[in-house]
Amino acid sequence: MSSAENIDPLMEEQEHEFCGHTLKLAMFKGACLGVSAYIWGPGLVLCQYFQDQKFDFTGKKVLELGSGTGIVGILTVLLGGDVTMTDRPKILQQIQYNVEANIPATARNRSKISALVWGQDQDKYPTDYDIILGSDIVYSPSQFPGLIQTLQYFCRDNTIIYMSSNLNARMGAHDFHSDLLPKLFNSEFLHQSGGDYIYKVTKKTSQESSACV
Ligand SMILES: C[S@@+](CC[C@H](N)C(=O)[O-])C[C@H]1O[C@@H](n2cnc3c(N)ncnc32)[C@H](O)[C@@H]1O
Repeated sequence: MSSAENIDPLMEEQEHEFCGHTLKLAMFKGACLGVSAYIWGPGLVLCQYFQDQKFDFTGKKVLELGSGTGIVGILTVLLGGDVTMTDRPKILQQIQYNVEANIPATARNRSKISALVWGQDQDKYPTDYDIILGSDIVYSPSQFPGLIQTLQYFCRDNTIIYMSSNLNARMGAHDFHSDLLPKLFNSEFLHQSGGDYIYKVTKKTSQESSACV
């Protein structure tokens, strides 16, 4: 692993404990990563939900969208998943750093890091993921069309998408979850903590889709 100071002298670290794992997460504050250089409430709430519900991802092929620091994807690897963490290209070095700092070498073969810009790159990926994760990725209405296109690409008959979003603080998030998403997918509310909401999103059957036309 490169030393943190060489990568970003303004790097900050946070520690979080979930499912018996202490996660030490670096945030590259000096690297112009914008919102990606923070750990957001919806990510923490989703990790807490995995802990409370005793999630076990063993044998599951998982893709995370907008990984940021990688907190959710890294925990998912530690809970047994085979996880591809994705984000915009300039965020990948931060994720890589955190993967190396938190996932033991023996489990690292179950983690991949790769660029995926919504609406542009999804076709480069296979469509056989069991689970798609997205924490705090609903915050910028200009990104919604690309995000929807990406979710539609990955959401096959048996795919489960877990999304956690802050409906109070994030522009457009309320309408995205109450209006746009339910028109295109089955969206089940699972859990709320303050302004953070978790949804389970799945593909509509062809009958359900035609009933919505
Ligand atoms: C608010 S951060 C959330 C990060 C992390 N999931 C968490 O919960 O802490 C949103 C993430 O989505 C990514 N993102 C935003 N627009 C994107 C796009 N068009 N394609 C891919 N990733 C995008 C950002 O780079 C950022 O890492």
